[in-house]
Amino acid sequence: MCYEKLIIGFNMGDNIRVKTGINGLDSMLDGGVPENNQVIIAGGPGAGKTLMSFEILYRNAKAGIPGAFIALEEKPEVLLSNIKQAFKDFKDIDEIIKKQLIIIDGEDPSSRLKSETDSANYAFGNIISDIESIIKKNNAKCVVIDSISLLKLMLINKYDYRRSMLMLMSNLRRLNVTTFLTVEIDFADREKLKYSPEFFIFDGIIILYQMSREDRRTLTAEVVKMRGTNHSWALAPYEITSNGINIYTVDQMGDIP
Ligand SMILES: Nc1ncnc2c1ncn2[C@@H]1O[C@H](COP(=O)(O)OP(=O)(O)OP(=O)(O)O)[C@@H](O)[C@H]1O
Ligand SMILES: [Mg+2]
Repeated sequence: MCYEKLIIGFNMGDNIRVKTGINGLDSMLDGGVPENNQVIIAGGPGAGKTLMSFEILYRNAKAGIPGAFIALEEKPEVLLSNIKQAFKDFKDIDEIIKKQLIIIDGEDPSSRLKSETDSANYAFGNIISDIESIIKKNNAKCVVIDSISLLKLMLINKYDYRRSMLMLMSNLRRLNVTTFLTVEIDFADREKLKYSPEFFIFDGIIILYQMSREDRRTLTAEVVKMRGTNHSWALAPYEITSNGINIYTVDQMGDIP
């Protein structure tokens, strides 16, 4: 794939797409994610959720589209250092951040619960307005929220959680952004997949599995749903390299290392 030729937001009929720029993923999505979709990237520990979502912002930033990375569970400087360690060939990350083509900002949701009088719902309202301010800082069009799993723990009541997720999604839609929200799942294999509420609420779901094969795990990606587009139904192996994530779709199967 030639990233120099990456065109973001091209028109497919009425359906404007945001390209992820991840090698192999846009072809699985029939050209990209429909603009303004709110998409879950789910996976087990170390599956590559953070790296994949960052790479989407990075590829878009390279095409001049501003992005915001909202880190809910890691300090931005630690996160950035891990990303640079993994994606060693992305030499211009600092330059892109300096130009504010990507903003990385942190928010600790639990800090919003300091006051005893604060309910989780009240705290969640504040988190949503903080997210909005971060997005408005550089007029981001592409947003990552990494991860929403802590919010799930804060909102123990299932009704509150679902209501809050709906509120988050409608706010992101109102801001006219395309968002990738990472979610932890506590299973590695596809057979054990259980759909949690957010899987129904959000517009798209990409799952990163770590499948057990004899003496090793293999990484496999699947688009479970994506509203507004046709998409691949195949499980596709992927690898994390210093130059980004490569997903091997059916027509590239011959290239699997
Ligand atoms: N330099 C590297 N080269 C190849 N793979 C790497 C490199 N650095 C990290 N990785 C891979 O990336 C994984 C971490 O990716 P990432 O942080 O995106 O995972 P995650 O799904 O966000 O995990 P968590 O659930 O812990 O947040 C590591 O487990 C490792 O397999
Ligand atoms: Mg992560």
